[in-house]
Amino acid sequence: VTTRTPLMAGNWKMNFDHLQAIAFVQKLAWTLKDAKHDYADVEVAVFPPFTDLRSVQTLVEADKLPIAYGGQDLSEHDAGAYTGEISGQFLAALGSRYVIVGHSERRQYHGEDDALLGRKVAAAVRNGVVPVLCVGETAEDLEAHGAAAVPVQQLRDALAAAGEVPELVVAYEPVWAIGSGQAATPEQAQTVCRALRDELRTVVGDEFADATRILYGGSVKAENIAGFMREPDVDGALVGGASLKIDDFASIVRFRS
Ligand code: G3P
Repeated sequence: VTTRTPLMAGNWKMNFDHLQAIAFVQKLAWTLKDAKHDYADVEVAVFPPFTDLRSVQTLVEADKLPIAYGGQDLSEHDAGAYTGEISGQFLAALGSRYVIVGHSERRQYHGEDDALLGRKVAAAVRNGVVPVLCVGETAEDLEAHGAAAVPVQQLRDALAAAGEVPELVVAYEPVWAIGSGQAATPEQAQTVCRALRDELRTVVGDEFADATRILYGGSVKAENIAGFMREPDVDGALVGGASLKIDDFASIVRFRS
């Protein structure tokens, strides 16, 4: 069981337009209110598509909802001639607390490497947005090097390129577990999350390592979340598919009850 405040984060990927987004966040807030959810106990965040963020912000601010939100990616640049890019400045201006950096789908489909991801982490930091840095091994990596080697190297390389990072969330997402229905076991997740924390300890220091939340992601469901949360180094989850269903996501947030 973690000593840090757990973070349950929903990565919507390319799902929900702005109208669906506000309907979802409103219903999620009602469901958690009915359950008397204490947000100080478990923090909740959603990562909608960029085009939804302004609508989500308007709702969250109007109803004073204690739900954090952020982008699924950002540019390494703050402004300028970069067609199609979204800057950390824009995300910050919309009240984003977090931004996902280096999701495996960005690495895979957009060729993002650790050096670029380090610069994206730096861009988030520069704009006061907390990066949620994703790392994880493919099935081939797992076979060749075991589970921890590749994610630890990804973390090391991104941090080396990032410069100083005051606050970070790390998400361990084994690529083979994403959207496959085949989650890692809690023991596997613990082993890698522990190795990632040890890396933070070595590279940054004890205080930072002890304060940083390390999430597990990959086929997290209402049925398996409690097992992950029994582990000492798993501080929450980055949820894909199950974050698109109110009851499933609310149950994940309410894993203690
Ligand atoms: O970022 C979360 C994601 O990649 C995991 O997806 O659908 O396996 O929960 P899913």
